[in-house]
Amino acid sequence: MNQDDKKQAAAEKALSLIPKGTYIGVGTGSTVNFLIDALARTQFDIKGAVATSLETERRLTAAGIEVVSPAVTGRLPVYIDGADEINHSLQMIKGGGGALLREKVVASISDTFICIADDSKYVSKLGKFPLPVEVLPFARSVVAKALFRMGGEANLRVGFKTDGGHEILDVTGLDLSRPLTMEDELNKIVGVMDNGIFARNAANVLVLGTKYGAELISAK
Ligand code: 5RP
Repeated sequence: MNQDDKKQAAAEKALSLIPKGTYIGVGTGSTVNFLIDALARTQFDIKGAVATSLETERRLTAAGIEVVSPAVTGRLPVYIDGADEINHSLQMIKGGGGALLREKVVASISDTFICIADDSKYVSKLGKFPLPVEVLPFARSVVAKALFRMGGEANLRVGFKTDGGHEILDVTGLDLSRPLTMEDELNKIVGVMDNGIFARNAANVLVLGTKYGAELISAK
């Protein structure tokens, strides 16, 4: 099984966790694209979806699924999304696809966060993947200096703008051994829109694609 097969296995297994006839949150990325394909193929009974990116909106619409805003849905029973890294407490690094701000909004209004990922993403310690930090372009250098003082090296994602018109700094070197504290500390820097640590909004369940198929994993 290659990495895409594992992503697909995780995405298809997640269908069994989605309540029928409701609105759901749908994330962004290649693993989620397998989910959208599966929702379309099985004509899954959902009312509609809140999308975490313009790209996901486009794919959902093409699949015949109505895209709605959080103003319409209020709280969501489930939100399904991928991750760049997920630890054994189901805390994550997200934002590799640059959609982290909307992703955090959708996570914050969802009762259950279902993470779908291949097994290369499941790690004992967060931090190998550079941490995406979304910044107001005007404040980019101010934020980069603050990150430097915290031990981080910030690299601008060149030529990239988020759906909200912001920039992304990919940051290495930060100590992520206390994800909750670091998530909060980074968000205190003026000019930071949000950061890719999902510890306050950790996943409730991980559907992990492995060479044996997909398995459900809870926080340890
Ligand atoms: C996008 C994300 C994605 O969930 C993350 O990058 C994983 O993507 P993929 O499923 O393509 O590996 O956070 O902002």
